[in-house]
Amino acid sequence: MLKNTANNVGYLYSLRENNMPILQLEKKLKEILSPEVFEHSIKVKDYCYDLAQHYKCDPEKLSIAGLVHDCGKIYSSDELISKAEDFDISITEMILSSPVNTLHGVMGANYAREKLGIDDNEILTAIKYHTYGSEDMNIFTKLLFIANKVFSIDKKYSDQIEEVKKTVLKDINQAVLMTFDIMLKSYILEGKLINPQLVTSRNKILMSLKNINKI
Ligand SMILES: [Fe+2]
Repeated sequence: MLKNTANNVGYLYSLRENNMPILQLEKKLKEILSPEVFEHSIKVKDYCYDLAQHYKCDPEKLSIAGLVHDCGKIYSSDELISKAEDFDISITEMILSSPVNTLHGVMGANYAREKLGIDDNEILTAIKYHTYGSEDMNIFTKLLFIANKVFSIDKKYSDQIEEVKKTVLKDINQAVLMTFDIMLKSYILEGKLINPQLVTSRNKILMSLKNINKI
């Protein structure tokens, strides 16, 4: 899952042996992230562990995704745009309106691979899509998405988030749909632009739920 490369800041990762590697990763992230983002990452990591146990995923692996998911926030807006151009990502008006929200997932996945030595595709994909989801979310990506939103959606939606926390224990797809809906409603109420990726992701999960209910 994690490889010891020249780029991974000298850590020797061996996740299966003990917890030290996660602690070392935590130490690194504490150094490079703002206190707010680091504190958020720890909360997401711990919730990821609980959700993974509930869904019989690998708790260590999902914890790492939770811990690392916001590492793209080490970059400023200008740095994110410049790096995105290096990756041939076309810089749309949507991206320019909110570079951190739109780019920290994809650039974070790249940072996690290149600088933190994480080469597990499931972790990298979940990091990439943790902000707006995707049309092809597996359970791992869905769990990181929900864990992140539980601790990042504005407190004024806390009642609805509590419902998501209850629902995720019973029906993960319904919980993901509820989370997309909270995000969409909040963007509309606050007069914010809506990233088309969010709509596409929401449509996909809604269609899959409707198809299940038809059977
Ligand atoms: Fe994030």
